[in-house]
Amino acid sequence: MSRLVVVSNRVAPIKAKASAGGLAVAVLAALRESGGIWFGWSGEVTHTATTEPHVVKVGKITYALADLSTEDYNEYYNGYANRTLWPLFHYRLDLTAFDRRCFEGYLRVNSQLARQLAPLLGEDDLVWVHDYHLIPFAEALSREGCRMPVGFFLHIPFPTSEVLVALPSHQELIRTLFAYDLVGFQTDNDLIAFHDYVVREAGGKVGDDGTVHAFGRTTRAGVFPIGIDTDEFAALPLTPEVQRQTERLKASLQGRHMVIGVDRLDYTKGLVERLQAFEQMLETYPAMRGTVTMLQVAPPSRGEVPEYADIRRALEATAGHINGRFAEFDWVPIRYLNKPFSRRALSGLLRSSRVGLVTPLRDGMNLVAKEYVAAQDGDDPGVLVLSQFAGAAHQLDAALIVNPYDMNAVAEALHLALTMPVEERRERWSAMMEGLRSDNVAAWRNRFLSALDADRAAA
Ligand code: G6P
Repeated sequence: MSRLVVVSNRVAPIKAKASAGGLAVAVLAALRESGGIWFGWSGEVTHTATTEPHVVKVGKITYALADLSTEDYNEYYNGYANRTLWPLFHYRLDLTAFDRRCFEGYLRVNSQLARQLAPLLGEDDLVWVHDYHLIPFAEALSREGCRMPVGFFLHIPFPTSEVLVALPSHQELIRTLFAYDLVGFQTDNDLIAFHDYVVREAGGKVGDDGTVHAFGRTTRAGVFPIGIDTDEFAALPLTPEVQRQTERLKASLQGRHMVIGVDRLDYTKGLVERLQAFEQMLETYPAMRGTVTMLQVAPPSRGEVPEYADIRRALEATAGHINGRFAEFDWVPIRYLNKPFSRRALSGLLRSSRVGLVTPLRDGMNLVAKEYVAAQDGDDPGVLVLSQFAGAAHQLDAALIVNPYDMNAVAEALHLALTMPVEERRERWSAMMEGLRSDNVAAWRNRFLSALDADRAAA
């Protein structure tokens, strides 16, 4: 069997507590079983970048971690990855910065990282590269003389051509995707957008067998929706430690229902709109006042990028306004927490909530939606209210699907969820849980890796 080598900018924290984001959690679950190498950024910013990664072995996983210099961090991570690609791929042209120097920094760091990984690779390895930070990585690896199969998975949406062509370097960037043997997307929409770009902007062709030709090169592209470790997550809230936390939470709620949101503090998550929809629900249905509390967990993220400081201020102001308007001496409508929680602790909060409110304005998949469903008690499950713009809506269609921009519709869905009879809640939950069990993280990994290895297996 080939050895798996995963490459991602963010590597799961070796210490458990910190918040990791969907990618790192899923990749950790995918690597835990097979073992292999996980190569990426150490999270350290030093005066000069490393030329050789630090290597740490934990169980079956060998972590190889590279430090970034301050310049790399600013141009590659804060700059091109998080001020250009992230907003652009989430349809936020208004927040997208276009800076040639950052693009050059991005290409430079990809080359630097490939140079550090290359000596660790063998020809039987399968290399699996993740997410928008590392689009040019396969091309950089091939410049180092590496010839093993290399696949790429995009965790975030692939935007329509109309949006993508606003990027001055779009051809230069998308061309590098063709150095991969396989390119994976979360949903059909993403694949369609990619095909459309190939045909209309790059003058290429899409074959019936998943092959895509453009820029004088050929690759394969497909849809591989990411999953969670469903059974493992479902078991987390049942541990004694989490049950103690749940008791404390229940005591504090005094019989009220809870609505929960859990998101990195990011403008793509629709957090302000979500709180406003909750406010709208309290306004339209005065009888709900005092009977329900909303818990929004939003650990800060990418704090050095100015747009993230802005969203933080906007959210604090909105939560403060709603609490100021409706709070009573013994009830506060919104509990807003800015700190990260362990997955274990989150599982208990999700299970204790009658409604999971997952309303991003745009999201590649959104694993919190899946975790919310997995954490529920099947006899008395809560209701998922899910944005139509999250990749997860393509699979979790028994959720209450909403348009997150339509405040009144979200408020109505919230009210419906809070008053839904148990039979309907059970029916919806069972339909979703069945899908989550079969399309779990192991299925995602296996489907992607067998597609990546298909050529070698056939040889
Ligand atoms: C999203 C991205 C990941 C990223 C995560 C956390 O899920 O798709 O690539 O790791 O956010 O963001 P951060 O910038 O902290 O790595």
